[in-house]
Amino acid sequence: MDNNKQKTIIKDEKTEPEEEQLITSVRAADWGEFLGQENIKQSISVAIQAAKKRKEALEHVLLYGPPGLGKTTLSHIIAKEMGSNIRVTSGPAIERAGDLASILTNLEKGDVLFIDEIHRLNKVVEETLYPAMEDYALDIVVGKGPSARTLRLDLPPFTIVGATTRVGLLSAPLRDRFGVIHRLNFYEPKELQIIIKNAAKKLKVEIDDKSLVIIALRSRGTPRIALKLLKRVRDYSQVHGDGIITLEYTNKALDMLEVDHMGLDTLDLRYLEAIIKKHSGGPVGVETIGSTISEDIGTLEDMVEPYLLQIGFIRRTSRGRVATQHAYKHLGIIYPASQEAADQQKLL
Ligand SMILES: Nc1ncnc2c1ncn2[C@@H]1O[C@H](COP(=O)(O)OP(=O)(O)OP(=O)(O)O)[C@@H](O)[C@H]1O
Ligand SMILES: [Mg+2]
Repeated sequence: MDNNKQKTIIKDEKTEPEEEQLITSVRAADWGEFLGQENIKQSISVAIQAAKKRKEALEHVLLYGPPGLGKTTLSHIIAKEMGSNIRVTSGPAIERAGDLASILTNLEKGDVLFIDEIHRLNKVVEETLYPAMEDYALDIVVGKGPSARTLRLDLPPFTIVGATTRVGLLSAPLRDRFGVIHRLNFYEPKELQIIIKNAAKKLKVEIDDKSLVIIALRSRGTPRIALKLLKRVRDYSQVHGDGIITLEYTNKALDMLEVDHMGLDTLDLRYLEAIIKKHSGGPVGVETIGSTISEDIGTLEDMVEPYLLQIGFIRRTSRGRVATQHAYKHLGIIYPASQEAADQQKLL
């Protein structure tokens, strides 16, 4: 914890597919490269500075929000700013309390333990985590039956950074043990343009400003999607041209992908069509939509709905999801006059 440079990164995960490697290769490495999310940046920076001043471990941090908005990236930046090692694992990877114990007892003072998909920790592991988070202690049961005893093992002070796309699935006792909790938001097109520009620089590809604008608009407010689209456009420009990304190649490459001008893909469109065509625009429960289009409800809640809510294509009501006039317009379907009248009535 005493120097300012990040030490080691220990990863539990398997080797990453090629696309993930690209994403990792252009990963924002420090606050300077991490665009947007100003409130989160400020609040975490203050917490880090305070912890360093007190020479304590940083409080436990919980980051949640839709995929690809920078939770993993932030966890690495936090470790770097603390000058600590980071150990990377995930909820499903920690199967038994013993797995957790072996991770925790190998931590050094001030280390960051990043637990991705923290909502998928099983109950036993989660309960082992409580005293570890609260008192830096592990309660280990030794022996069996009547002679079983609990031994308390002290741990060095450390920081858990938990990440999840499903904060609603976290139990209250676990959530309450995080001192710093933040929801990551979708990014503005302007911020995405800078993220794409910086990534292009790292990848050593030239890209014109108009292409930056177009790619940013199709990225559903999500840096990971922006970087994936950049990669596709780069490939297309290299195959069909001299590798420089111009508007012409950008448009052609993006048209080949099934992503429309607002970044909606076939799943988003199927979801909207199900509400509008099969359920008269709603309200309809997500379970029903899921069975209408044979899609997993978790996927709809994680990947589809947050962005459609953000751009105002759907609304959540107590009786289910409702498609808005914007969604009808986007699909080229006439908005029912009766519905428009009802909307007007609500505004009065
Ligand atoms: N604010 C940002 N500024 C610059 N690049 C960013 C930012 N947020 C994310 N990125 C880039 O987007 C990519 C995906 O981010 P990251 O893997 O951190 O997302 P995530 O929230 O952990 O997603 P998931 O929920 O799928 O695990 C990374 O390459 C990262 O560098
Ligand atoms: Mg992640």
